[in-house]
Amino acid sequence: MKILILGNGGREHAIGKKILKDNPFVRLYFYPGNGGTNLIGINIGNYINDYSMLELALFSKKNNIDLTIVGSEVFLMKKIVDIFHSYGLRIIGPNYLSARLEGDRGFSKFFMKKYGIRTPNYEIFHCYDDAINYLDKKKFPLVIKTNGIASGKGVLLTNNKKEAKKAIREIMIEKKFGKSGEKIIIENFLQGEEASIITIFNGKYITPFISSKDYKKIGENEIGLNTGGMGAISPHPHMNNLIWMDFKKNILDPTYEGLISEKLIFFGFIYFGLMITCEKVYLLEYNTRMGDPETQTLLPLMKNNFLNIITSFDKIDMFWEQLYSCCIVLSSKGYPKKYEIGKIISGINSLKEPFYISGAKKQEEKWVTTSGRVINIIGLGNTINESIKIAYKNAKKIKFDNLYFRKDIGS
Ligand code: GLY
Repeated sequence: MKILILGNGGREHAIGKKILKDNPFVRLYFYPGNGGTNLIGINIGNYINDYSMLELALFSKKNNIDLTIVGSEVFLMKKIVDIFHSYGLRIIGPNYLSARLEGDRGFSKFFMKKYGIRTPNYEIFHCYDDAINYLDKKKFPLVIKTNGIASGKGVLLTNNKKEAKKAIREIMIEKKFGKSGEKIIIENFLQGEEASIITIFNGKYITPFISSKDYKKIGENEIGLNTGGMGAISPHPHMNNLIWMDFKKNILDPTYEGLISEKLIFFGFIYFGLMITCEKVYLLEYNTRMGDPETQTLLPLMKNNFLNIITSFDKIDMFWEQLYSCCIVLSSKGYPKKYEIGKIISGINSLKEPFYISGAKKQEEKWVTTSGRVINIIGLGNTINESIKIAYKNAKKIKFDNLYFRKDIGS
């Protein structure tokens, strides 16, 4: 079997490693891939012009790729699934209409409201003046979001009117986020614990994976700029039975009903970005792909054959290791702003599995950094504390100039 995985991060390396662990005879291809995926498959970047969905489909047809897995959302809004289907190619991910659950926040909120899915109160604005006037009626903090996903950057927390006005001006007048900011969503802020639940939807059944929590900010204690994720733990320590039942009743089940009623039928992942407050669970957002670094954190706990999960039209029973997982993201100092690459990395060969490459490559037998996020190190333990300890112990083996990582993942 030949499988193509789309994306260039630790998530795609983790998906590839898990597939090979369960199915050693599968041949893997990655686009664009990274220095880690290159060691377990073939990066096909040289054959495809700059993220051309059509060329990816033609490559897959010509090379008899049996299955494609969309890792990164970048491909979804470029209609990869619709294009692959038009060539009769099998692909895991939502078609364009369904991908709007992630790519069009206005649509996503409309869907949540229509199907009674519990989400923070909000208003949508097309017009700058209306958005500014609305602030007079509201208590702070408020969350201001671009309608489009703006590479994950279009979510701004504002603590007072001055900050909110500045954010609205930047989005709607200065067009800092381009077309993504043509509409904005102003949402009530909720205090609580964020949690992620990734599910697989096969058009008939929706199956949740184990919960996780990612650490999005660059600085310890969740301060500073948003990043692609600086670490994660799984399962989420706050996800007890009561909260799980609340999630199922008020978020998961009505989402399923909405998907079926709206005929948003696809085979792919739905990621629920949640806020657990002291009394209830709220849905902040959907993503229509697996999370990064949640994927790297939870796949080592999955006992099922991942390939069965993403190809079976039956109801799936999930089985998980009775362990905890902690993922530390080693990054280049300066990320998510400016940072240097090309730094020589030592210690990769002495790392204990599992670990995943997100931005490094082998160059003349030496590993060098190629990106802001460089390596994801996983610790597995019988307790959450043990998993954290193991992850940090393993992380200490890695050295490169300007290495930065958060010391508080799991706390
Ligand atoms: N970890 C958040 C995301 O993948 O969007």
